[in-house]
Amino acid sequence: MMQLESLSRNANVAVIGASGGIGGAFVELLSRIDQVEQVNAFSRSPAAGRRGIIHTHHLDFGDEDSIAAARDAALAKGPIDLVIVATGILHRGEELRPEKSLRQINAGSLAEVFAVNSIGPALVAKHFLPALRRDTKTVFAILSARVGSIEDNRLGGWLSYRMSKAAVNMLVRTAAIEQTRTRPESIVVALHPGTVATELSRPFTGRGDKGKIFSPAYAAEALLGVIDNLEPKDSGGFFAYDGSAIEF
Ligand SMILES: NC(=O)c1ccc[n+]([C@@H]2O[C@H](COP(=O)([O-])OP(=O)(O)OC[C@H]3O[C@@H](n4cnc5c(N)ncnc54)[C@H](OP(=O)(O)O)[C@@H]3O)[C@@H](O)[C@H]2O)c1
Repeated sequence: MMQLESLSRNANVAVIGASGGIGGAFVELLSRIDQVEQVNAFSRSPAAGRRGIIHTHHLDFGDEDSIAAARDAALAKGPIDLVIVATGILHRGEELRPEKSLRQINAGSLAEVFAVNSIGPALVAKHFLPALRRDTKTVFAILSARVGSIEDNRLGGWLSYRMSKAAVNMLVRTAAIEQTRTRPESIVVALHPGTVATELSRPFTGRGDKGKIFSPAYAAEALLGVIDNLEPKDSGGFFAYDGSAIEF
């Protein structure tokens, strides 16, 4: 049975993007951990009502008031111990596809990808970081992607996704510095889940990738293990599912 021993007893946790592949797996896994008292599952798509310790709420990045209301709903149980931002966009139907070259850059698509991958998480940080518990270890983790690493970029392409993830990585580092001033035990990180079988990755993974692709449940468990091992000195960092640090 998975544990989250480094967080406080009776942990109050929040998952943003609970309707997604990885976000949904986090909700399920967290709801089975003894120490977790409440799982606040936030999503834009309608989700089922209350089930056990899982409390669902609406949250849409296009409506900042919904983010503040979600924060207030989570706070009804007391200060928050863990926030996982598991939202993201790489493609949407035929209209929005990752660019293979600069020629395919389109201002509308670029703005949409930034709205979900960079601006939404920044608004969540604005409203949720001050709601984290003081004086005990807390974690605010945003799912980024290794392809957002500038140092690691050797292939090019996927311009809007790469740019938006590099931007969210900068949010993480900057927010971590500010958060430490009021909550020295608070850890703000970017996480890379590996390649995971979800709607987001589906058009880009083939049969040949079998064995290299994680199930959402596997990725969520691996990342919770990473979260449990994080220390305040790790705040502002970027980590993969195996705990290794990724260069920005
Ligand atoms: N899967 C992979 O291989 C992989 C690899 C590296 C990094 N990641 C990262 O991991 C994270 C989770 O990805 P996933 O694979 O689980 O993707 P997914 O299954 O497509 O889930 C995406 C989630 O983002 C939500 N979302 C999109 N636009 C939103 C908006 N405007 N407001 C609120 N929520 C919105 C979706 O909500 P709706 O249901 O309402 O659309 C859904 O809950 C992403 O940040 C992704 O970049 C994934």
